[in-house]
Amino acid sequence: KGDPRLKAISDAITVVPHFPKPGIMFQDITTLVSNHKVFKHTVEIFVDRYRDMDISVVAGVEARGFMFAPSIALGIGAKFIPLRKPGKLPGEVISEAYELEYGKDRLEMHVGAVKPGERALVIDDLVATGGTLSAAIRLLERNGAEVVECACVIGLPELKERRLLNGKPLYVLVEPR
Ligand code: PRP
Repeated sequence: KGDPRLKAISDAITVVPHFPKPGIMFQDITTLVSNHKVFKHTVEIFVDRYRDMDISVVAGVEARGFMFAPSIALGIGAKFIPLRKPGKLPGEVISEAYELEYGKDRLEMHVGAVKPGERALVIDDLVATGGTLSAAIRLLERNGAEVVECACVIGLPELKERRLLNGKPLYVLVEPR
């Protein structure tokens, strides 16, 4: 708090009411990543936080987690691994289901993408219910990784207060606009 970069990040997010469905206040990050200065600040905040934490894996959640995770991985000298929607990864996968507002979805991860004991960070753009990040944590742990923290650009204040997902710390930069 008090970091002027956080206000700039919040200001760069565009709210689109009633997208993709009536009642949803969509948090559009395309206007954040198209602003070079603000995008750089966003990545720098995460890189500064994680660079000395002995993290060797940055896992990004499809699709919008992919906009941040690779830059963070490069910045801290870790590998990037994608956690994907079903049927996208060509190799052997493990899969975790999670609840959506209506129905279920799954995330998949390549078996062997991490070595046992590797320290991992999970990155997404936004956390709402936490269901997606919880599935991501389970995938990494089933493959033997140690999840150090989950981090998002945007998070609901309720979740910010709870600050734990599956017992793992959650780090969030700004609240939804
Ligand atoms: C959004 C968002 C997170 C997830 C958060 O993704 O990017 O991944 O929802 O919701 P939760 O905390 O309630 O699980 P979405 O499913 O819309 O997929 P997309 O990034 O591929 O558009």
